[in-house]
Amino acid sequence: MARVPAVATTSAVAAEAARRRTFAVISHPDAGKSTITEALALHAQVIGEAGAVHGKAGRRGVVSDWMAMEQQRGISITSAVLQFAYRDLVINLLDTPGHADFSEDTYRVLTAVDCAVMLLDAAKGLEPQTLKLFEVCRARRIPVITFINKWDRPGNEPLALLDEIEQRINLRPTPITWPVGIAGQFHGVVDRRTGDMTAFHRTPGGATAAIEERLDPAEAARRHGADWQRAVEELDLLTLTGADHDQDAFTAATTTPVLFGAAVANSGVRQLLDVLATHAPAPQARPDLTGRPRPVDAPFAGFVFKIQANMNKAHRDQVAFVRVCSGRFTRGMTVSHAPTGRPFATKYAQQMFGADRETIDEAYPGDVIGLVNATALRIGDTLYDDPPVTFPPLPSFAPEHFAVLRAADAGAFKRFRRGVEQLDAEGVVQVLRSDRRGDQAPVLAAVGPMQFEVATARLETEFGVTTRLEHLPYRATRRTDRGGEEALRGVTGAEVLVRARDGALLALFTDDWRMRAISDRHRGLTLDPLLATS
Ligand code: G4P
Repeated sequence: MARVPAVATTSAVAAEAARRRTFAVISHPDAGKSTITEALALHAQVIGEAGAVHGKAGRRGVVSDWMAMEQQRGISITSAVLQFAYRDLVINLLDTPGHADFSEDTYRVLTAVDCAVMLLDAAKGLEPQTLKLFEVCRARRIPVITFINKWDRPGNEPLALLDEIEQRINLRPTPITWPVGIAGQFHGVVDRRTGDMTAFHRTPGGATAAIEERLDPAEAARRHGADWQRAVEELDLLTLTGADHDQDAFTAATTTPVLFGAAVANSGVRQLLDVLATHAPAPQARPDLTGRPRPVDAPFAGFVFKIQANMNKAHRDQVAFVRVCSGRFTRGMTVSHAPTGRPFATKYAQQMFGADRETIDEAYPGDVIGLVNATALRIGDTLYDDPPVTFPPLPSFAPEHFAVLRAADAGAFKRFRRGVEQLDAEGVVQVLRSDRRGDQAPVLAAVGPMQFEVATARLETEFGVTTRLEHLPYRATRRTDRGGEEALRGVTGAEVLVRARDGALLALFTDDWRMRAISDRHRGLTLDPLLATS
């Protein structure tokens, strides 16, 4: 990485920002996120090793070990970052936990990226978790690149997959590459810009980057006859319908460049990196609370998008992950904490997590830093170097799991209350209350059930309170108002609770059917969807 002078000039900061690409993969479990992460790293010069975070237990010997629960399950509970160099760029890949550890953190990661790669299994197309994550991208206007994976296995027709994307999520696909050979008989891809074919020759076990061979159209036709002919015809169709990449439409998040590949064989992964490098946006000026953009070369500013506690059993502590939005961050600098106006020393700034921690000296817009023992920091807080700035608070996402929490020992109520407040402030879970339920029995609400386990484990270890959870049967959530609260009082299968964090009134229903029936009965009832509600 190029070094900049001790005092970075604004143009040096702008140049560093311009070579950052910060993105996340959005996908459904098993589509191949871990595999493609490893494949991307293989093509790149890894700056920080995050295999421990991205890999799965037992795979290539990578197991993250910071929490007993995580160890038992062999999954990572929170998101981390893989940083690597590609060409002259610095790429930051933020992990979006899926599987059983899907949680509000997964959504929040998307507040800290400039682009997303939507990874689809060729045989399955758009799946539920992908759709939820995509809705967050859409709401935040995050440009999305689509990678259709597992082309080495039987799957859908490529045109049918494009149609599904266009019809179901109203995003216009503009393929950059096109497969030669149907799913299951993958010979390579056509590069639509040059018309040449890149043939993939698989290396045993996919341990190294796929061997690529460039074929001109005549040679591709000679070797792949009917498959080549079919690809050419499909490409003609695409060209006729104007499905061509348009940079403005892509950055406005109305179109999606599409690539085909097989992450397990590393096929098509280099092409994905090239599209990220060439088309994905570099960090842009981020608007503050009043909508005024903070230029990337302004003095340092960033916001906390994730807090992770108890990462290291040996020294129980807490790490706040900050996305750098402007300026140059140097370790040890003292910045200001926007909510309190207090100075904040960043002596222990780290990057990359997993089993290892690595101290960083500097970071630029697009990078993520971890601040250790930053107990004063909360999700969404802004840190800055003068002039002051406050970025907008992070959104709360629609919870889908609900449970009443009680202290097992009534004598521990004070600690119980303090602990619940702390977990709410950190965004570990959402805390909902009502007069009827009272202070002793708040309702915890979560995007994924793992959030409950983290909450109860932390109440026990940090606050010494054993708790009991009683799961509630609610599945659908809407935002409502005082009128809704009145109308739903005493209605079976529904309940209105106040979210402690922001005072929002949330109407909970046992299922979508009941919600529709109730809203049909009570005309004029305000029921607004929350972000990422299924
Ligand atoms: P995830 O993180 O999105 O959950 O998916 P992961 O990468 O773990 O991949 C899920 C399964 O799909 C794995 O198989 C993986 O090898 C396989 N896979 C990923 N990419 C491709 C691909 O391009 N082609 C094919 N054919 N398979 C792919 P598994 O049997 O669950 O695990 P493993 O024992 O093979 O590692």
